[in-house]
Amino acid sequence: MKLPVAVLVSGSGSNLQSIIDRIEQGVLDAEIKLVVSNRAGVFGIERAKRHNLPYKVMLHTDYRSREAFDQAMVDAIVEAGVGDNGLVAMAGFMRIVTSVFLRAFEGRVMNIHPALVPSFPGVNGQADAADYGVKIAGCTVHFVDEQMDHGPVVIQAAVPCQAGEDGNVLAPRILKLEHRVYPQAIQWYAEDRLRIAGRHVELKVAGRPCARQPKADIEPETYALVWPPLEEGF
Ligand code: GAR
Repeated sequence: MKLPVAVLVSGSGSNLQSIIDRIEQGVLDAEIKLVVSNRAGVFGIERAKRHNLPYKVMLHTDYRSREAFDQAMVDAIVEAGVGDNGLVAMAGFMRIVTSVFLRAFEGRVMNIHPALVPSFPGVNGQADAADYGVKIAGCTVHFVDEQMDHGPVVIQAAVPCQAGEDGNVLAPRILKLEHRVYPQAIQWYAEDRLRIAGRHVELKVAGRPCARQPKADIEPETYALVWPPLEEGF
C-alpha cells in the first residue's frame, strides 16, 4: 500500500516537486493526498495543479488563533485521507505548529530545514550559517515537535561552505541535497523502518523487502566531509 502523505508548503515548493518526481519515478511508495499552503499565489500550489494533486490554500490570517488554524488543517488533512497511517511532510512550511496539530499526528510529522540542526533554526538557515562563517553547512530532515526546527533527526546532509560565500550562494547548494534526502526519509517512513526513541531515530536496515537497500557495510569514516580538505600527510 502506498503511504498517504499531506505536504504543507508556504512558497516555491521545490521540495514538494522532489517528492512528486520520486513518486512518479516509482522510487517513493507514497501518494500525495493533499497539498496545503498557508499563503496564496505561491508556486507550490501551481506545482500541485500541474500534477493534478488535491490542494487547499488555507490562510492562517483567516483564523482567530494558531490552534484554530491548526485544527482546520488537521480536519482537511484527515478528510483528504491521511489518517492514522499517513505522514505529514512540511516542505518549506514557514509556521510553527501547535500541540493541536502534533497530537493529531503524533510521530507522523516531518520537516526539512536547510541547516545542520541544532544550528541555525528559523527562516534564514543558509544565510545565518554563511554569515557565521561555518565551513560545513547542510540540511536536516527531522520529526517535528513543538520547538522550531528541533525534533528527532532522521537524516542530515553536509556541503562545503567557502569563505566569502553568502546565503544566496549556499542555498541552492543545500537545496540540491534537500531534494535527495527528503524523499529518501519519506521512503524510509513508508517502509516502516524508522523508530523514534527520545531524540534518536533508528533506521532499520531491512524492514520489509524494498527496491533499494542501503549498503550493508558502511564505514562512517569513508563518508567524512572535511572542509577545507586535508592536505597530503594529514
Ligand atoms: C527549503 O530550503 C526548506 O528547507 C526551507 O525553506 C525552503 C523551501 O523551499 N525551510 C525552512 O527554512 C524551515 N525552517 P521550497 O519551497 O522550494 O521547498
